[in-house]
Amino acid sequence: MSVTKVVCPGSFDPITLGHLDIIRRARDLFGGVVVAVGVNPQKRYLFGERRVDLVRGAVADLDGVEVEEMDGLLVDFCAERGIPAVVKGIRFGSDFDFEVQMAHMNHGQTGLETILLPAAAEHLTLSSTLLRTILVNGGDVTRYVPPNVAAAIARRDWETTDPA
Ligand code: PNS
Repeated sequence: MSVTKVVCPGSFDPITLGHLDIIRRARDLFGGVVVAVGVNPQKRYLFGERRVDLVRGAVADLDGVEVEEMDGLLVDFCAERGIPAVVKGIRFGSDFDFEVQMAHMNHGQTGLETILLPAAAEHLTLSSTLLRTILVNGGDVTRYVPPNVAAAIARRDWETTDPA
């Protein structure tokens, strides 16, 4: 089977240059990417529903990349679209441990495959969680995010001020 489209799932709270690099590389490898922005009602997202528009803005100039909200299970999201694999970035060992566990659970349910791409060296320590902590405390994260996200941050364009 030749894979022509994969899913890049995530919370993207907010999308960073690290996420964007993985999305671009997945697109270059397979041709098409659906970015699945997770919507978990139990989770408090700093950028709330704006995450989807921020991802859309960040990938606007990338041909072959679409953005959708995802509620429920990743395996169902992929099955409904006939997409056989997800691509995720990993930075270090703890990412790997977690991703392998999820990959096996997902594969066990529907046969969904997980492809792990090592984060680029310049993005190895980048984390949305750390960026949220910095920005709610007034720090500058501009160099780590795409221009549309930097602009949203400059407008303090988030829905809550609590770190998620
Ligand atoms: O950026 P994140 O927070 O690591 O992204 C997490 C996400 C959205 C990829 C993950 O929570 C997810 O796949 N959610 C959908 C629910 C699901 O299928 N969970 C995995 C069960 S093994």
